[in-house]
Amino acid sequence: PHVIFSGIQPTGIPHLGNYLGALQNWVSLQNSAAPDTKLLYSIVDLHAITVPQDPGALRRWKREALATLLAVGLREERCILFFQSEVQAHAELMWILSCTASMGYLSRMTQWKSKLSLSDHTSPLDESSKSKLKLGLFSYPVLQAADILVHRATHVPVGEDQSQHLEFARECVTNFNHTYNGNFLVAPQTLLCTSPSPSPFLFCPVNKTNLPSAPTKRIMSLTDPLSKMSKSAPNPLSRILITDSPSTIKKKLTSALTDNSNSVSYSPSLRPGVTNLLHLLSAFDPSGKSAEEIGGELERSGMGLGAFKALVTDAVVEGLKGVRGEFERVVREEGFLEGVARRGAERARESAEGTMGVVRGAVGL
Ligand code: TYM
Repeated sequence: PHVIFSGIQPTGIPHLGNYLGALQNWVSLQNSAAPDTKLLYSIVDLHAITVPQDPGALRRWKREALATLLAVGLREERCILFFQSEVQAHAELMWILSCTASMGYLSRMTQWKSKLSLSDHTSPLDESSKSKLKLGLFSYPVLQAADILVHRATHVPVGEDQSQHLEFARECVTNFNHTYNGNFLVAPQTLLCTSPSPSPFLFCPVNKTNLPSAPTKRIMSLTDPLSKMSKSAPNPLSRILITDSPSTIKKKLTSALTDNSNSVSYSPSLRPGVTNLLHLLSAFDPSGKSAEEIGGELERSGMGLGAFKALVTDAVVEGLKGVRGEFERVVREEGFLEGVARRGAERARESAEGTMGVVRGAVGL
């Protein structure tokens, strides 16, 4: 039977990139997986502290992340929803894996290299700033590998920015199995989301394990359409949160950076801003048309950018309506999220224990 695992950092309310790039896919997997498929979705709080966090804010973000998972439609009856730090096996396996993982591979990872060579995308780091970088940031992918491997995950649904981390997880399997001479750990497959797309799965996730046939698109920043939409970008206008009110969504989309041709057309290279908005529109379009098709239609209709942005706003507001309402409801319900977390942690501990027995045995602990 298949095991699906994925994680999200509790570093603020999830945005449309998280939703369309990952969470929607988690829900579809929940709804389409065979009954014997195990699904685990974790809020990876240990990953969140690789950069300094205010403890109060972290506590709040953790609750909000769990509320989000429920609000987008994940059900605890079907999935194991849990906080990473409540299942100690994740940290234990991370240590064991770091004893067979190679520094060279880790230092070639793009996320690390971007931290090394560029601070705030402006100037290269000097030697003394380099030596102040934290070990946890460097070994981050080892913890991610442990998350996946400790549950013997066969499939990991993620956005495209995580592919390299998934390759590293497979590398950890090879290194560990080779060092201890046996098939102790299972290599996971990456499931890239084809989103944004209204019917996200052109591949049948778990019965057939082929990868999506449509190219993966990342959701880009609204203020800088050449960078991905991100929780850590300083400008809050650059992202739409899944709990944003209709008027906030309108404000953000109205001010979204496009270009000075007052028409709509699909062109990722020439018109990244307009194309990103077309991706959003297509993601929430009930007819299932691709961004390219919609772009063609709007181009032929002669629509201007103002009307186009209004159209995107209506689609996003409508698409997020249910999510926002459900989020507000579960966040307020006294003790509810705590109960979900407690039950999830219990089941996740049980899920991890089998692997830890095998791993400790292999190593001689
Ligand atoms: P995180 O918290 O940054 O993002 C959660 C998920 O959202 C996807 N995503 C996007 N997809 C499309 N467009 C975007 N602009 C965009 N921004 C984010 C991410 O690809 C991800 O799937 N390292 C992981 C968390 C993690 C994890 C794991 C994931 C820890 N352990 C084990 C899978 C398996 C991260 O930082 O995701």
